[in-house]
Amino acid sequence: MPANPKPTIIIRDLTAFDDLSKVEAVEKEVWGLADRDVTPLTLIIALQEAGSLWLGAFDRDTLVGFAFAFFGRENGVPMIHSHMLAVLAPYRDLDLGYKLKLAQRERALAAGVRQMTWTFDPLQSRNAHLNVAKLGVVSDKYKVNFYGPETSSVLHRNGTDRLWVQWRLTSERVQQRLQGKHSHNDVLDALPNVMPLVRFNGDGKPVTSDLAEATARQRICIEIPSDINLIEQKAPALAKAWRDATRWAFSESLKAGFFVAEFCRSIRGKQGPGAYLLQKGTVEEFVAEI
Ligand SMILES: CC(C)(COP(=O)(O)OP(=O)(O)OC[C@H]1O[C@@H](n2cnc3c(N)ncnc32)[C@H](O)[C@@H]1OP(=O)(O)O)[C@@H](O)C(=O)NCCC(=O)NCCS
Repeated sequence: MPANPKPTIIIRDLTAFDDLSKVEAVEKEVWGLADRDVTPLTLIIALQEAGSLWLGAFDRDTLVGFAFAFFGRENGVPMIHSHMLAVLAPYRDLDLGYKLKLAQRERALAAGVRQMTWTFDPLQSRNAHLNVAKLGVVSDKYKVNFYGPETSSVLHRNGTDRLWVQWRLTSERVQQRLQGKHSHNDVLDALPNVMPLVRFNGDGKPVTSDLAEATARQRICIEIPSDINLIEQKAPALAKAWRDATRWAFSESLKAGFFVAEFCRSIRGKQGPGAYLLQKGTVEEFVAEI
């Protein structure tokens, strides 16, 4: 537990051996990883020395979260790919994930890089809210079992499907999000008029709609549960049904020329499902650089 209800958390680069050696314990706690899936300390040290970004969130001397990203290229354009973001459970919902991403953005801009990428499981509502609503990422790529069918991670029990997202660091969209201009109300206004390609039926199961009818429209939505981790623990078959339905919906709609533009975490009151809003068109046209 945090040492006090409102701990003072410092975000800083991880450079010293002592700092970097604390990453393993956080990886193990957050993802429940077996030794074979933990990043080797020797590799962490080499990656850091070679210019990769290791950022940590500290409660006094305790590492309570970290973000790791490395330099890469997408379509020939230099970018930074964020491979891991983790915050210990007692420290969640305190903006630390958000602040770690902002720190990555600052480092990227200082290095002359204007685009970041990463992946997340589209069934994870918290991640969807943080990434799409708070940070303003967009996505036009869905990867089936990106890390293979399973790993030792507790977050990989239901396959490892991922949305590959783009964070256009200097775009108007992202700058507005970072000024706190969430799109929540706009999305809520739009949703009643948008056809759900996947939606909840009365008893929490996913129901799919006709693909041709949905993709003939300009906007569609895909609903997800508010807590897939709980469903995975209590009803694995239902979690699998959500994976299958959303895998189909994302794959087919992206193939039909849609991209993921927004996420709204609750469409029916606080505990209700969330919904992705997808639009027809291209990310390039949608996310204008300024
Ligand atoms: C993803 C993770 C890093 C987020 O860290 P965090 O410090 O809790 O993130 P933040 O506090 O900045 O943002 C969380 C947001 O999600 C919201 N949230 C919490 N539960 C939610 C839910 N079930 N559905 C939608 N939003 C939710 C919070 O209210 C907060 O938004 P707000 O500030 O607008 O209120 C953390 O949950 C984690 O370590 N998860 C496990 C590992 C993981 O999934 N890593 C990322 C992919 S590699």
